Amino acid sequence: MDKKLLFIANWKSNKTCSDTVEWLAHFSDEMTRLSLDNKDIVICPPFTALFSAYMYIKEHKLPISLGAQDVSPFDEGMHTGEIAPIQIKELADYVIIGHSERRREFLEDDAIIAKKVQSAKAVGLATIVCLQDENAQVPKGADILVYEPPRAISSGIPGKPGVPDDPRKISQVFTQIHNKTNKNELLYGGSVASSTIDAFSAIPLLRGFLVGGASLDYLEFARLLSKC
Ligand code: PGA
Repeated sequence: MDKKLLFIANWKSNKTCSDTVEWLAHFSDEMTRLSLDNKDIVICPPFTALFSAYMYIKEHKLPISLGAQDVSPFDEGMHTGEIAPIQIKELADYVIIGHSERRREFLEDDAIIAKKVQSAKAVGLATIVCLQDENAQVPKGADILVYEPPRAISSGIPGKPGVPDDPRKISQVFTQIHNKTNKNELLYGGSVASSTIDAFSAIPLLRGFLVGGASLDYLEFARLLSKC
């Protein structure tokens, strides 16, 4: 792969603050052995660990950007439990919106997702929007689009590896999304791991990956990066 690729680590509801600092300490060691000129790395820890990650990255001047995994559709105010875009922007540059787990478990729909994109954009966050298939609605203002078919997302159950989508299918979906949106920032997500990443290298339009389970272990994430 000769173009610059974006690797977004989505830790989901995993890791405490101390786990996060430990991961970053180990991963920064691994980074010294990786060739990073053709890669951008974004880590998306849970909200509770964003500040620890931010401080560690700043103090050690690591070439890692931060993202949140979700954002409130509302601005700061009386919205119990919500994290407002401006609160994220203080610590991170990116935000994931519309992940299929949020659609499934929290019943988020296209209208909520569109509102989240607008509120995130208003404070200057780069929006990473997940699309479950070629027919998914692309909200206005989406910066980075990720094709993430729910069936390809790993379960996280040890010994039950996920099965990534067929690279030919990914190519087709990318072409359809590109034709519809004219967007070039197309990423793939779903069981991307060091053992599966080679299969994606020939996909035209591919600009990177959203990596869930395989990003939780710093060694596996470094191994995956070393293959690109
Ligand atoms: P996975 O998750 O890499 O564990 O399949 C990807 C995602 O849901 O972001």
